Amino acid sequence: MDFSLKRKSLDAPGGTLVCGLWEGRPLSGLERRVDQALSGVVSRMRKSGILSAEYGAMNDALYTDGALPAEKVLFIGLGKELDRGKTRKLGKELGGHLAAKGIQEASVSAFEHGDECAEMLSLGMLLGAYLPDEEKSERATSLERVSLLYSGAKPSAGLLRGTAIGNAVNYARFLNNAGSNIVTPFYLAQEARKLQGIEVEILDRAALEAEHFGSLLAVARGSSREPYVAVMRYHGNPDADTVALLGKGVTFDTGGVNQKPSAGLEEMRMDMSGAGNVLAAMRAVAELKPAVNVVGIFGAVENKDSASGYHPGDVLRSRSGKTIEVMDTDAEGRNVLADLIDKALEYSPDEMVDMATLTGACMVALGKGDDAPAGLFTNESGKRLAMRLSAAARSSGERLWPLPSGEFYQRQLASERADLRHLGDRFGGASSAAQFLFNFSGDVPHCHIDIAGTAIAKNATGWGVQLLLEYLLAR
Ligand code: BES
Ligand code: ZN
Ligand code: ZN
Repeated sequence: MDFSLKRKSLDAPGGTLVCGLWEGRPLSGLERRVDQALSGVVSRMRKSGILSAEYGAMNDALYTDGALPAEKVLFIGLGKELDRGKTRKLGKELGGHLAAKGIQEASVSAFEHGDECAEMLSLGMLLGAYLPDEEKSERATSLERVSLLYSGAKPSAGLLRGTAIGNAVNYARFLNNAGSNIVTPFYLAQEARKLQGIEVEILDRAALEAEHFGSLLAVARGSSREPYVAVMRYHGNPDADTVALLGKGVTFDTGGVNQKPSAGLEEMRMDMSGAGNVLAAMRAVAELKPAVNVVGIFGAVENKDSASGYHPGDVLRSRSGKTIEVMDTDAEGRNVLADLIDKALEYSPDEMVDMATLTGACMVALGKGDDAPAGLFTNESGKRLAMRLSAAARSSGERLWPLPSGEFYQRQLASERADLRHLGDRFGGASSAAQFLFNFSGDVPHCHIDIAGTAIAKNATGWGVQLLLEYLLAR
């Protein structure tokens, strides 16, 4: 979808002109001029209640019959007032509505002055128009060109932010939706290599062996698909903090020898959401150039049972040197992350955030879908980081809910045979998984976000990309 900015005017190009109706306010500006050009039909229809101004109303479009350069005018309801979240949601509904009607070109009259409205509208429209039909022989016609009609100062910065973030979310959704035959560990590594303006290093199996990624490699061993770790570095400002973003990239999770049941197994192609989110966020970072340094790291592996797979009872030597007693090969994500966290320490990060579809337990606790909150866990030093992430969550509309970690869960991880078990009790499984991760981050402020319930759905949500970007851009 291509966006452009044009001054508000009735000479807008053809296609569909989208105007807003405020509840309890008279028509003004462009909307009033449209009414005049159409001989007052808009006011009459409004008075009779045929055109609704209720928030989110998508009224039937009116033909202009040559009275305006636009072929049709669509009035949508804005309600009494808009905020960030409402504008984003309205954009989403509008994008979905226009795409469903097969409209390829639209001019949208911005509802309010300024960058925030342009950002939320463009972001919302990109999210709403997305369809997971990349692999269909005949793809649905989609909204291709949108002109945003603004008044006042040109909201270029807002549009840049909105489109960069929206495209990043849709990219993450694409990576998730695509099957594990396409989005393999190699594919993810190739995508990282393609990043512009980011310094990228890819570690292949030989490099991972040389660096003793014993915990990650144990998971990868069951698959004939080669594992990769990507390290993506963005240098925003030498005087600013360095933030490490880590993502679990299990391109398919069969559970390994602790095999998963078959119901819903196809969704386990999305067990790489964490990695997809980090990759997508790096893409937007390259475009938006925040004044912070970011090191994005993901580990891409497939978790399979096979002649060479790892087993419960195995003791792994992780990159950190800590040994891990494996209890369940389906708890593979934490094994991958343990080595990524240790790798991240090499870059002396001031803070570390990881995203992972880590536990079914988190989904059981908090629910499923992109309106559900994701679980937020923090180590002792990460409490201020957790507050900043929560603020970013409020601003992105992607909710976080704090869940506990700490000593109670640490006790469950005691092992007689190794330094650490990777599994706690069945109850409180999201918290013991988080606590396991914190064993590898030392004193670095570290927050873990469990996105099992929010990122994975019948169609991928891309949940978490907006949150990561809000967090980086607010710094
Ligand atoms: N990828 C799964 C977690 C998951 C489950 C995500 C369902 C989304 C939906 C993870 O690797 C896993 O299998 N976790 C196990 C851990 C258990 C063996 C302690 C789980 O949650 O069942
Ligand atoms: Zn698993
Ligand atoms: Zn998994």
